Amino acid sequence: MEIQLWREILDPYSLAVDELVTKFNHIIDEYKHVGAYSPIEQVTGRVKTISSILEKSQKKSIELENFEENIDDIAGIRIICQFVEDIYKVVDIVKKRSDMRIKNEKDYINNMKKSGYRSYHLIVYYDVETLKGKKELQVEIQIRTLAMNFWATIEHSLQYKYKQNMPEHIRERLSSAAEAILILDREMSVVRDEIMDAQNSFTIKANIVADILTNIQNLYKVAKKQEVVSIQDEFFRIYQNGDQDELAQFSRDLDMISARYRAQSLR
Ligand code: GTP
Ligand code: MG
Repeated sequence: MEIQLWREILDPYSLAVDELVTKFNHIIDEYKHVGAYSPIEQVTGRVKTISSILEKSQKKSIELENFEENIDDIAGIRIICQFVEDIYKVVDIVKKRSDMRIKNEKDYINNMKKSGYRSYHLIVYYDVETLKGKKELQVEIQIRTLAMNFWATIEHSLQYKYKQNMPEHIRERLSSAAEAILILDREMSVVRDEIMDAQNSFTIKANIVADILTNIQNLYKVAKKQEVVSIQDEFFRIYQNGDQDELAQFSRDLDMISARYRAQSLR
């Protein structure tokens, strides 16, 4: 197949990857903006290279005419979570969406592969709009924790290094590392609530401070400089004090001051 033709076929897949990475990143933003903990930590995506499409077609005896139906991971999205619990939350989010339809799912979290690999896999149908009209594509979504991702990355590069001949002692090491990852994820789940509380209050505080700073910045344009300076001093005092309730109250007061100025400037 000519390179030009490959590009034409693969273009919609790279559109799908771009769109989905953007969409999942917006989910993170939505959580952040309401000051809530996001079950998604990080999103990445990739389109399979031509050479690995060819390699996979050969390995699985797939005719090149219908590789698009038979290779379901030409477009791949990887979602990284902090905790195992988050993975199932993300699966729910995907299932509820109207722009993705589940083709199949594999739970390698509860059913670890022989290698020690753990992840949740979804194959979804996803539509993109191209110059030729609507095109329905398959996309593979892999959802895993940071720890699982660490393991999979290392194992993948060792697989690549040794091809089919991974030495037994390395295989054993990987297997016990997978066991350690399992325990690590369990330990993290135990402290999950505490970690989440800390992260939540951090995000809430960051949002309040951002609001206050925006307000002060706007006040500089309309209010007396002296008044803004004293507001700013008050803010620094409260901020250094570290009392979040006082900070929230200060932010509400500042909202009222700003509203008054806006009303005045309308007159
Ligand atoms: P593929 O031919 O690889 O697509 O296998 P499959 O169709 O049986 O699907 P499966 O769900 O087993 O694997 C899909 C993808 O998950 C792979 O392409 C890898 O990215 C990842 N994966 C599966 N097993 C392993 C593993 O043992 N180690 C690592 N590092 N990744 C794996
Ligand atoms: Mg597959």
